[in-house]
Amino acid sequence: MDVINRRWRLARRPEGPVRREDFVLDKAPLAPSPGPGKLLVRHELLLCAPTIRNWISGKRESYYPTIEIGDPILAPAASRIVASDDPAWPVGALVVGLGTWQDYEWVSPEDRGIRLIPDGISSRTAMGLFGMNALTAYFGVIAVGRARRGETLLVSGAAGSVGAMAAQFGRILGCRVVGLCGSPEKARWLREDCGIASVIDYARENVPDRLAALCPDGVDVVFDNVGGEFLHQALAHTNRHGRIVLCGQIATYDVDDPYAGRPLDMMRIIYGSISLNGFLLNDFSADIPEAQQKIGEWAKQGLLAHREDLRDGFDRLPETFMALFSGSNQGTLLGRIADEEGRAL
Ligand SMILES: NC(=O)c1ccc[n+]([C@@H]2O[C@H](COP(=O)([O-])OP(=O)(O)OC[C@H]3O[C@@H](n4cnc5c(N)ncnc54)[C@H](OP(=O)(O)O)[C@@H]3O)[C@@H](O)[C@H]2O)c1
Repeated sequence: MDVINRRWRLARRPEGPVRREDFVLDKAPLAPSPGPGKLLVRHELLLCAPTIRNWISGKRESYYPTIEIGDPILAPAASRIVASDDPAWPVGALVVGLGTWQDYEWVSPEDRGIRLIPDGISSRTAMGLFGMNALTAYFGVIAVGRARRGETLLVSGAAGSVGAMAAQFGRILGCRVVGLCGSPEKARWLREDCGIASVIDYARENVPDRLAALCPDGVDVVFDNVGGEFLHQALAHTNRHGRIVLCGQIATYDVDDPYAGRPLDMMRIIYGSISLNGFLLNDFSADIPEAQQKIGEWAKQGLLAHREDLRDGFDRLPETFMALFSGSNQGTLLGRIADEEGRAL
């Protein structure tokens, strides 16, 4: 196959907020197959995941991948198989897994966590409603937070890809849900489409005052996507035996020193018998099919709103990714680089 492959590679480590110049675009002939057992995939949708900011930081922590300078940017992807020597991975099938900011790539299914998208499900839905962010929210609320009917669930980043699902799963479970977001439009969407009655626009409202007003009996479960100052504000309202689910820390991803923030009030955590639990979706890999079935049932019953923010164009992938940090994304942010017929975008 004679193909010129578009690639976005890491040009340099970002200092502070990510810029377009941190990435370099080039084109190169696709390398020949590296050997048996490899699939050639064409990426269609690339998920803009905030954690990519950590992967390009160069901190070389052992607990997440480091993208080296010159390497293509790793990203969760929905892709189509265009060459395969394994009947379990048929040509033409849609798959999800870890991809890169390239048109084409030879991948090993095991190394990249590749899974077939079931028939009848579009790549967009596979990356959205049934995607890794929805699943992260599901396990975070249900298995890690153990949210129960009648409890108060506080969600930061509540209009985002993970957060909106976390807030709605809490509502479905019968929790009283309070969500934080950063714009009036997001607040409206949360109220009107997601059925989250109590919303705080943290950019325009005083968060401690609003938490006191909306959570007079305190908070039982905090689902935190943001970290930073929010975590202090949430902890101050967390009830005895409360559970703080640490999903993400997007407020600190641009900060070089993760210890630069104010330390948490540890005595409050001790005296409140409060648990702080970090987790990763990978912890729950075996339970993904069951979770997807449940999410599908809730969606069929009309209980879930979901929106994807689809942005076309390989050339503007850096700008698309940066929308996560300006907060301009509305829902699951996906860079679309090929259409369903495989035409480059
Ligand atoms: N543990 C896991 O396995 C796992 C898996 C997936 C994602 N995550 C984490 O989940 C979180 C949400 O990810 P997502 O993909 O769903 O992104 P997202 O919420 O769809 O988009 C990011 C949102 O974060 C908010 N934000 C950006 N910079 C901020 C800042 N400095 N302070 C406060 N808020 C800020 C913005 O919303 P506003 O306009 O509302 O501020 C922005 O729209 C991230 O922290 C991510 O790393 C964890």
